[in-house]
Amino acid sequence: MNEISKLVEQGYNKIANDYYNYRNVNKFNRELEKFLSLLPKEAHVLDVGCGAGIPTANFLVKKGIKVTGIDLSDTMLRLARENVPNAEFIKKDINEINFDENIFDGVVSVYTLFHLPKKNHFLIFKKLYEILKPGGILLINTGVSESEGTSNFFGVPMFWSNYEPKTTLELVKKAGFSIISECVLERGGEYQYWVFGKKNRIKSGKMSR
Ligand SMILES: C[S@@+](CC[C@H](N)C(=O)[O-])C[C@H]1O[C@@H](n2cnc3c(N)ncnc32)[C@H](O)[C@@H]1O
Repeated sequence: MNEISKLVEQGYNKIANDYYNYRNVNKFNRELEKFLSLLPKEAHVLDVGCGAGIPTANFLVKKGIKVTGIDLSDTMLRLARENVPNAEFIKKDINEINFDENIFDGVVSVYTLFHLPKKNHFLIFKKLYEILKPGGILLINTGVSESEGTSNFFGVPMFWSNYEPKTTLELVKKAGFSIISECVLERGGEYQYWVFGKKNRIKSGKMSR
């Protein structure tokens, strides 16, 4: 694990309960509803940086979706297992995702990618593309201005890294995704860049939607 992942892991192990308490009253479920509407019935979704399982894994499991969540933080994973006993949660660094190709119907990563160095974002988008089935749906969000550094978050040092939306969009497309929609949204007084993408189906040697 790299030094940044270690810092983020240690930070979230300390602040997991505080962050969970915040997130439990700031769910912003509208985007999850849209994500759900794009998935097939009985879909299998990977929640990348699942945190305490609230709201994403909990929302999806209640709608009949099978969810696997990954996260660095043992404390977050413990909360997630308590909050969403019917989902599967695995300790894994996003930089080291190694699932088989073409196995998930959806991949969601919200309020997480900004903790990974922006130079890694393209490789992560490519990896998320590979593990999605053809026709699979991506939902991510990132910050809205290019930046990188460490600042205080709930009393611990936390690493942040973002491109501006234009670059994030280019990288998502370059990784292979068709864009369903993208926009900057204000939620709870903060702005994030949200992207819905789709892995194209391959028909008779041609890429199609
Ligand atoms: C701000 S929280 C968001 C959690 C959840 N997605 C949500 O919407 O509430 C960020 C989460 O990403 C996890 N995380 C950050 N970097 C990670 C990495 N490299 N690999 C796995 N998880 C990571 C943290 O441990 C934390 O649980």
